[in-house]
Amino acid sequence: MTDAIATVDETPESEPAPTTTAAPAAEWWRTAVIYQIYPRSFADADGDGIGDLPGITRRLPALADLGVDAIWLSPFFTSPQNDAGYDVADYCDVDPLFGTLADFDGMLAEAHRLGLRVIVDLVPNHSSSAHRWFQEALAAGPGSAERARYLFREGRGEHGELPPNNWESVFGGAAWTRVNADDPADGQWYLHLFDSSQPDFDWQNPWVREQFRGVLRFWLDRGVDGFRVDVAHGLVKADGLPDWTPPEHGGSMGGSTPALEGVPLEEEISSDLDEHAAPYWAQDGVHEIYRDWHRVLSEYEGDRVLCAEAWVEPLTKLARWVRPDEMQQAFNFTYLETPWSATALRRVIDTSIASFATVGAPSTWVLSNHDVVRHASRLALTAENPQGAGIGPDSPGLPDPVLGLRRARAATAVMLALPGSAYVYQGEELGLPEVIHLPADARQDPTWFRTNGEKYGRDGCRVPIPWEAGAPAYGFNDSGESWLPQPGEWAALARDAQDGVPGSTLELYRSLLRERAGHELATGAIEWLPGFGADVVAFENRGVTVVANLGNDPVELPAGASVLIASDSVEGGILPPDTAVWLA
Ligand code: GLC
Ligand code: MG
Repeated sequence: MTDAIATVDETPESEPAPTTTAAPAAEWWRTAVIYQIYPRSFADADGDGIGDLPGITRRLPALADLGVDAIWLSPFFTSPQNDAGYDVADYCDVDPLFGTLADFDGMLAEAHRLGLRVIVDLVPNHSSSAHRWFQEALAAGPGSAERARYLFREGRGEHGELPPNNWESVFGGAAWTRVNADDPADGQWYLHLFDSSQPDFDWQNPWVREQFRGVLRFWLDRGVDGFRVDVAHGLVKADGLPDWTPPEHGGSMGGSTPALEGVPLEEEISSDLDEHAAPYWAQDGVHEIYRDWHRVLSEYEGDRVLCAEAWVEPLTKLARWVRPDEMQQAFNFTYLETPWSATALRRVIDTSIASFATVGAPSTWVLSNHDVVRHASRLALTAENPQGAGIGPDSPGLPDPVLGLRRARAATAVMLALPGSAYVYQGEELGLPEVIHLPADARQDPTWFRTNGEKYGRDGCRVPIPWEAGAPAYGFNDSGESWLPQPGEWAALARDAQDGVPGSTLELYRSLLRERAGHELATGAIEWLPGFGADVVAFENRGVTVVANLGNDPVELPAGASVLIASDSVEGGILPPDTAVWLA
């Protein structure tokens, strides 16, 4: 130690300081851009109209070429597909719809060969009712060890004819289903925070914990780089399962609107964290589960990652999911839900960076996924649209598609300039909008059925993506089949129609990803630039100046600045509304 200091002291002033360090490269996930593949809708090799693993393998070069660092795959496990695979009947096998375990291994090897890390989805809050564990629980009857794997309870009312409490399913209707009302020996109910075919596990039961350690090891042994953890705020329920009525404006998954304008940042990040917690969301008990999983991942070489899908607010509370001994990442849904307002956007960026910094985690950024209205439509909605509700022909405030795409491109240009890790959802690099005009009989989201069509649900963001303008099903497969119908206008959005075309959304994403990497923006820090006016988001990160105009009036760019990337055309040093630029 003393020697090293002495050496430095003796270095003559004229000699440059050494530029290499012996420190190991920081973990990959701190800076990664992670591309979400929704396997049902990415690429379909066998032509049955549903995407599959061999389809993914074939199309992986397109993602390496796009410039992302990793992929996350939504579930491809054995499943009756009542909730598009988030109803798992065997955690350690591939559903024949998607292929085989050998297909998975082939996909993983190809991804790794291309330098892409692979994250798979883990669904630990509930299984499918078709899972052997649940079928055994039904058969074994009340009071059995098998029933204790899940949350079975006696009903209320004189004959147990009422549900054990008043909780509602995220998808609509009661969160309880009765096993068999006609059986005098067994009137029990079971809890399902989602569909009745998705019974919730009892995570207080050590048996459940042991099974999931096994599931983690099964996929880690195969070589996956990590897990996206479904409903990571829901596993533990409050003791006694007390009644609870959610506040009017709380999102169905537990988040609420960040109404924090005017509150100083320090106050926001130290506000009362538990005020609005539902007895099934964000219970403290979940954290020991993630500490346990952290230890399991540490047994493996390389940097493996757990990413929380936790709809938890405020962000300071979400930061608990990524304390140094828990998960590595958590989706930033507060960012995703931020309205198209410069004030709101500046605020959420500040809050995100500050909140995650309290635990030494990078912030993540995300604008779209398989559960929300695609941001090329969402950012131009003119009526409120709670998460999960979706949009359809009769929704109020339907978006102007041209405006939506402009805003989406500008929003992505801001997102990809921020330090930390970002998630991109398949098809957003093509500028795909939400599909609004899906025929009623084509819709498949359980939300649609459980609300009797009152909520359209999430099918509109799940339509199979277009690869080739002139091919059957736009190159999704060779047969022309598609489990959700693709709109007629999508030829223009197909990947091959945008490839190499200056100004296309695909080329915009490519340049953003290339320059983000080239300038190492992910490890940078932002500094706000004043003087552009209230409707502008302007910051600098590692010498790149980002200016986004979220207002209605054109904005003058700094004199002499050279435009590195523009989300839409910029002429004469004037930044039009709903446009963002990176200046060098
Ligand atoms: C998560 C998934 C969503 C699914 C739900 C129940 O929110 O992203 O698609 O329906 O969990 O598993
Ligand atoms: Mg198929």
